[in-house]
Amino acid sequence: RPIGSGAEAELERIREGVPHGRFPAHVFNDQEIFDVEQERVFAKAWCFLAHESEIPNRGDYVTRYIANNNLIVARAESGEIHASLNMCRHRGNMMCKSEMGNASHFRCSYHGWVYKNSGELVGVPYMKEGYEGRLDKRDWGLIKVRTETYAGLVFGTLDPNAPPLDEYLGGFQFYLDLYLKQGSSGSEVHGPPDHWVTETDWKIAAENFSGDGYHTPVAHQFGFNLGYFASSGSTHSQGWAASIPGRGHGIGLGHTPGFPPFAGFPEELADEMRRSLSPEQVEVFSQTRTAVGTVFPNLSFLMQPFSIVPGEAGVRFVTMRLYHPIGPGRTEMYSWCLVPKDASEEYKREAYRAYTLAFAQAGTFEQDDLENWARVTRSAGSNMARDVEFPYVMGMDSVPDPDFPGPGHVVKPYVNDSNFRNLWSRWSDYMTGRE
Ligand code: FES
Ligand code: FE
Repeated sequence: RPIGSGAEAELERIREGVPHGRFPAHVFNDQEIFDVEQERVFAKAWCFLAHESEIPNRGDYVTRYIANNNLIVARAESGEIHASLNMCRHRGNMMCKSEMGNASHFRCSYHGWVYKNSGELVGVPYMKEGYEGRLDKRDWGLIKVRTETYAGLVFGTLDPNAPPLDEYLGGFQFYLDLYLKQGSSGSEVHGPPDHWVTETDWKIAAENFSGDGYHTPVAHQFGFNLGYFASSGSTHSQGWAASIPGRGHGIGLGHTPGFPPFAGFPEELADEMRRSLSPEQVEVFSQTRTAVGTVFPNLSFLMQPFSIVPGEAGVRFVTMRLYHPIGPGRTEMYSWCLVPKDASEEYKREAYRAYTLAFAQAGTFEQDDLENWARVTRSAGSNMARDVEFPYVMGMDSVPDPDFPGPGHVVKPYVNDSNFRNLWSRWSDYMTGRE
């Protein structure tokens, strides 16, 4: 849908500012930006939908969104995963009302059309008497959405011309493996997601998770003071910022000198990771204390050791989250704890405890972030903020680290705007119709 030429020119201007380290405040809370994003970003990009371990058995399903489209993501009888628009083809009723469950078929509660969980229409009341041969069931299945997976992550895109997922990820798989290949059998979700609405813009969360090591010693200062973190505020800024140029994905890799390799993992799990990851991945991840990354646009991860009892050795946990924008400055959050499939029940429980205390909906660190993000969102929506820009000039002259064995644009230190410039440049490419 076309937008006014003034708005197009403004988006071009925003895009030109990004490489110079400038990005406007208002985009973080703006109705017009939200509307354009729905069509140009979320309807075009590969959006994260679900983790395969949420629907391990035939018939398992979850409902998720791409933009404002509610989708049923189901494991069909064949074992394949299908994503279909949750809208009856007869008169548009929502087929599936629950967020997760198990069903081989969905029956519409309005006139009773029945679909397989793969989307095929198989039952129509009064087929003979009413339709008299005028309706071919094969033409009226649920609308399908293209899906592809990587290491358990299910992505969907509404764009039939989107490149394959592998190309879209563009090498970021190297870093994702830290979260997704914890051990030879991979990772799984531990329980259903925490799911809540926040008064913040998805972009603020996506940016923070693409490697904002800068806020940690300040916003989460009590974590250092009380001994929840296995590092100090001064070592926290060390490490790397890695991003995939032109793709928007980025990760911050915090490193504390002298930190034991794979600290926070049980010994047997660390050994398994040494076996299942590539030597380059082992070199990077064994010295990674904190890893916080975003896959453009709506998926983020964080892994770090967290001391459940302050001062004691930390337990490494992973949070995975999905952002579903529901309005300018409003986001539906989904947050999971990801654990290694093969780990002991004891470790899974401990990791889940650490995750819940720190980063689930009511987690202490989550609250620190959300209070700040909600205030950023509110001020970004004010009239005076229309003409305000933010500086993204940190690390503008950082040169790529020649010794780093991983892919992408990798700079030191971890405290850097490099990943954010990459993120907003990708966003601007989508917003100006270049993708
Ligand atoms: Fe679903 Fe009529 S709307 S059967
Ligand atoms: Fe934070």
